[in-house]
Amino acid sequence: MSGAAPGLDWIAAPGGPLLGRVRVPGDKSVSHRAVMLGAIAEGRTRITGFLEGEDTRATAAILQRLGVRIEAPAGGERLVHGVGLRGLRPAGSPLDCGNAGTGMRLLAGLLAGQGFESVLVGDASLSKRPMRRVIEPLSRMGAVIDSAEGGLPPLRIHAKNVLQGIDYECPVASAQVKSALLLAGLYAEGPTSVREPHPTRDYTERMLAAFGADIDFAPGRATLRPGRPLLAGEVEVPADFSSAAFFLVAASLVPGSQLVLERVGVNPRRTGLLDALRLMGADIRVRPAGEQGGEPVADLEVRHAPLRGARIPEALVPDMIDEFPVLFAAAALAEGETVVSGAAELRVKESDRIAVMAEGLRVLGADIEERPDGALIRGGRLHGGRADSRGDHRIAMALAVAAQCASGEVRIGDVANVATSFPGFDGLARGVGFGLRIA
Ligand code: S3P
Repeated sequence: MSGAAPGLDWIAAPGGPLLGRVRVPGDKSVSHRAVMLGAIAEGRTRITGFLEGEDTRATAAILQRLGVRIEAPAGGERLVHGVGLRGLRPAGSPLDCGNAGTGMRLLAGLLAGQGFESVLVGDASLSKRPMRRVIEPLSRMGAVIDSAEGGLPPLRIHAKNVLQGIDYECPVASAQVKSALLLAGLYAEGPTSVREPHPTRDYTERMLAAFGADIDFAPGRATLRPGRPLLAGEVEVPADFSSAAFFLVAASLVPGSQLVLERVGVNPRRTGLLDALRLMGADIRVRPAGEQGGEPVADLEVRHAPLRGARIPEALVPDMIDEFPVLFAAAALAEGETVVSGAAELRVKESDRIAVMAEGLRVLGADIEERPDGALIRGGRLHGGRADSRGDHRIAMALAVAAQCASGEVRIGDVANVATSFPGFDGLARGVGFGLRIA
């Protein structure tokens, strides 16, 4: 993030109406996958729109340590010189995934079937996140993975040349688990099938198909048959819907606002927030703008509209799983009650997002009842105060959005982690009228 450093705080307060056009950085999920598949493909993959965030850079750095040459000729561009499915080499010391759950879980799948040992480590937040959800099915495929007590990182992935394909019914709706198994499936004998309780983002499936893998998939299920090499190509990463989400909510909330979010990835498995905000009365128009890297993209036009509370349908939860911090901010400022349920997964994200958002918004005067799998939020007014992001990037940005409608200044603690997913958020936000500065 521009100017951000560990221990950094923001001061956020109402600015003016939010006006203009914004292009947010590249999609985090797509960037992780592009550099991973590029690494094990044959030939050179050119990635444009690569997210220059700490999470995705950590993944690229790990692949370099595994012997892959990756050039960065310009910001957002990567040339990945693929080494083929069997070309990765042992790094010899632990591989640091930083804050990235996606990095660690997908790499666990990718490394489970290699003929060498790898150790995956992460920062304090990642070191508390559950890994059993990948260890268990990968072990069924024949992988040997040790973890710390309770299935937590670090992960020691033992050398194993060949895995066995499985037919796995995933107990949680998790694109990371599904993707880990499909990547491991490239190194298995026989097909690997994954079924999900609710369909999740299908970037791994789409990208594997684009790289020539033998895969078929439909919402909620995927089957990969190993044996074909992956072939390098071009990946144009669309703008990240989850980053656009902060602007969509802020412009909905701040009177007089009118913003256009340009060329945002609108894969339907990511855009649940649009449905939720519309239920709350938001005025957002989606203007399709073709495809980018095989993904639908659109300009999103948002105008201020008074928001009212809503019961968020549980079926929307997987399609907006990363957007709850900012949805909580919208709900705290809407008229009436918002109920979120079926979202217990929020408790095992970069922070316990139910507890941390409830804590942060309460400090600003919000009325929130925490529930094991969600919250009841009674909308009202917010005042200034000192709220903490607990080192969670999306909480920091969601609090900055809430502060645009507070009656006083909000000091948001511990915002350096915004750089994991949205470097430059503060500058971009200020540019369209946010009241936001580094403390
Ligand atoms: C992601 C999947 C989701 C999401 C995360 C990115 C991915 O996690 O929350 O930010 O890129 O596959 P889960 O698979 O844990 O739901």
